[in-house]
Order: sequence, then C-alpha cells, then structure tokens
Amino acid sequence: MATNRTFTMIKPDATAAGHTGKIIDRIIGAGFTIKAMKWTQLSKEEAQAFYAVHAGRPFYRELVEYMSSAPIVAAILEKDNAVADFRDLIGATNPAEAAPGTIRADFAESIAANAVHGSDSDENALIEGKFHFSASDIA
Ligand code: CMP
Repeated sequence: MATNRTFTMIKPDATAAGHTGKIIDRIIGAGFTIKAMKWTQLSKEEAQAFYAVHAGRPFYRELVEYMSSAPIVAAILEKDNAVADFRDLIGATNPAEAAPGTIRADFAESIAANAVHGSDSDENALIEGKFHFSASDIA
C-alpha cells in the first residue's frame, strides 16, 4: 500500500540559479506538507553513498561530481499518494521529455542537472529520508 511520504532534493543547478523558493512554492501549492527540510552540501563521499544504486552506470561519476558541486535542499514531504504524485509534479528525468508545467520542464537544465530528485518507491523514500534526517528532525 502506498505510504504518504516521499523524499526530495532540490539539486545544485536549481539552487545555484536561484530557483529554490519557486520550487518550494510549487511543491506546497501542489498540496505537499514539509515534514523536514535542510540546506546542505553533499561531500563527494555522501553523493557516492546516496546514489550507490547507480554505481557502475556510465553517468555515475558525473552524477557524483555534480551533486557535490554546490548546495542542495533535502526534504521529506507528506501527501496522500506522495511518491507517485510528486513524480507527476516534477516530470520525466530528462527535461526534454518532461510534460509542460512540471518542475523539470520549467527549471531543469539537462538530464544530469535536472533540478530535483524524487524517490521512485515508498521503500526508497524511507531509505533516502533516513540518509538525511533523524526522527527528531521530522515535525
Ligand atoms: P534522480 O531522479 O536524482 O536519480 C538519478 C539521477 O541520475 C537522475 O535523477 C539524473 O540526474 C541522473 N541521470 C539519470 N540518467 C542519466 C544520464 N543518462 N546521464 C546523466 N545523468 C543521468
């Protein structure tokens, strides 16, 4: 059964371009509640660990360099059907294929610098949320 939480990161391209506030506004406007949020910068080791599932993929090295290159915003979000609804809100991984009006269509630069991350399953939402937050951070 779908849980009601997902995990997101506003990525370095979007924070560097000054899109953070506009993206958070879109997220809240779509009915998500922020349960935890922080502005931080991943070390290379943290980026490697977060994306360990992609180790060995041709884009892994670029992904790790990019995700540790500038600040991100990490957040746990709550809404009914959170994982699927958030992926609808952000659009396809490749912004060239993202539906009009989605966050990636409007703010992403490329498939690598694609503005936001959204968990792909309830299980990963829990794992990814725990990567960045402890229970006492969630309110
Ligand atoms: P994200 O949803 O954070 O999950 C994995 C990330 O890897 C993805 O968004 C993209 O930023 C990145 N990614 C996926 N496919 C490619 C690719 N072909 N080239 C570069 N980066 C990619």
